Amino acid sequence: MNSPHDVDVLVIGSGIAGLTFALKLAGGGAPGGRVRTRVAIVTKKDRADSNTNYAQGGIAVVLAGDDAEELHVRDTLDSGAGLCHPAAVEQLVREGPERVRELVEWGARFSRGEGGGLELGREGGHSRRRIVHAADYTGREVERALLAALAAHPDVRMLEDHLALDLLLAHAGSPAAPGPGQGARCAGALVLDRETGEVLEFRARAVLLASGGLGCVYRHTTNPEIATGDGVAMAWRAGADVADLEFVQFHPTALYPAEGRAFLISEAVRGEGAVLRKLDGSKLGTSGNDNEAVEAARAPVPELSLRTRDVVARAIYRELSESGDPYVLLDASHMPAGRFAARFPVIAAECRSRGIDVPGEPIPVVPAAHYSCGGVVTDLDGRSTVPGLYAAGEVACTGVHGANRLASNSLLEALVWAHRAARAVAAELEAASVLPGDVVAPTTPAHRREHDAVRILALRRELQELMWADAGIVRNDECLLRAEQRLRRMRNEVEAEYRREAPWPELAELRNLAEVALLIVRCAVARPESRGLHFNTDHPGRDDAGFARDTVLRDGEAGTARQVQQG
Ligand code: SIN
Repeated sequence: MNSPHDVDVLVIGSGIAGLTFALKLAGGGAPGGRVRTRVAIVTKKDRADSNTNYAQGGIAVVLAGDDAEELHVRDTLDSGAGLCHPAAVEQLVREGPERVRELVEWGARFSRGEGGGLELGREGGHSRRRIVHAADYTGREVERALLAALAAHPDVRMLEDHLALDLLLAHAGSPAAPGPGQGARCAGALVLDRETGEVLEFRARAVLLASGGLGCVYRHTTNPEIATGDGVAMAWRAGADVADLEFVQFHPTALYPAEGRAFLISEAVRGEGAVLRKLDGSKLGTSGNDNEAVEAARAPVPELSLRTRDVVARAIYRELSESGDPYVLLDASHMPAGRFAARFPVIAAECRSRGIDVPGEPIPVVPAAHYSCGGVVTDLDGRSTVPGLYAAGEVACTGVHGANRLASNSLLEALVWAHRAARAVAAELEAASVLPGDVVAPTTPAHRREHDAVRILALRRELQELMWADAGIVRNDECLLRAEQRLRRMRNEVEAEYRREAPWPELAELRNLAEVALLIVRCAVARPESRGLHFNTDHPGRDDAGFARDTVLRDGEAGTARQVQQG
């Protein structure tokens, strides 16, 4: 190794995708890997602080006797509104059960039914019970099991409080050329040690982006504050293709008021029969303005509470707009109190701490940004369009989710693609790609001035309000164009400021938020129709002739990624 920060493989992010990948790859553990592989995981806060940790629902897999792979594939394709890639969905469904078995072997303790088998829950858009879960804290249990399995591993180094700033690029020829997206190879990342303020160069033979989501682009989100779209922004600046970012999923049922990290009321509560009601107690109906042709063609059409998230969130949005009410109600009063507390202990405790006596009393809920269906474009093995750069988990756009992710397909996707990427990276390392040589002309300024944290926070808030109002659950052309103009200015201002100063975390995150918000809006503008999670009132119909394809943004506005001379 040439420097203390040189590793074989760098993993950015410590959620289910990053940890699974590291576990498989370290020590030649990935199928096809024979050599010991030194892996570093950089994570920007605490190792367990990830979207995974807050996932309540579970992992959708075909295990039940009345279920079949074709049904899970069909439900996923229907939910994705014509944009899922069938090969990706088939891979997800086919390989899912094996990945879940592996998790159990690594120590994950999922809820069991009376006969001792895995208990299967139901969620919206699923035609069968197929959600493997650990009560209502599945993500936390998976994260616990993976961290425990990794703890004993000598070849994996975990660095907390390390924020990746930008990807390093290498080129076999002149260090000065080419630029991002022009044949360069990913060769590591620049990483800020939050404790010391030092910027470190981690050079690596391959990099996995597993940095999670981007919910903090919006005013209301179920995501933790770390979900600032860092991976998509870094990949884009390095020249990778990104796609389908207009499809941000709003979870229909965040606990009201949805401030800070909004507390999620799992869709599994509706899966157990809870229904959505207006404040007058009547049942909520569909919005009537949805493009629901595919769903409507299915018989029987499920009751609203069990329909896909795009449909349910829009129905709530319409009700709130028309009534002026601040929330709708989720009524689980059909469930015995003991059963509710056993199945949803975390939700029950949170509701009670807020004075809501569940399940007797209804729960006030509103939609909140939850999941990005789009992201860094990958193939079936997690390869991005930049050689050496892989992506898995929410940061990736694998083709599985299309225009609307089916509930509980995301932890599954992370597992399947992490496994596949580990195998592909192991094969690539064996085929002898070398560690890149010296970094050329690092340009991170050393100048430190007093950080204006108040201003940066105000800009962050402005961006979140703007995205909520103009690029939220319902959009229109005028709002999107206004948002694009403001975001372009904001992105340029923040980028200029970032380049003037020694990096500091809040500014680096704002830089990524501004980049990603602009990408979301650009994708939305490029889709003048309504499909899945993207609903534009100026184009309320689905246009299969014109837009039954991904929105791919290519060739990042280059110049911010570093060049590295390949050794
Ligand atoms: C939920 O429990 O409703 C969230 C799970 C998911 O996003 O798939």
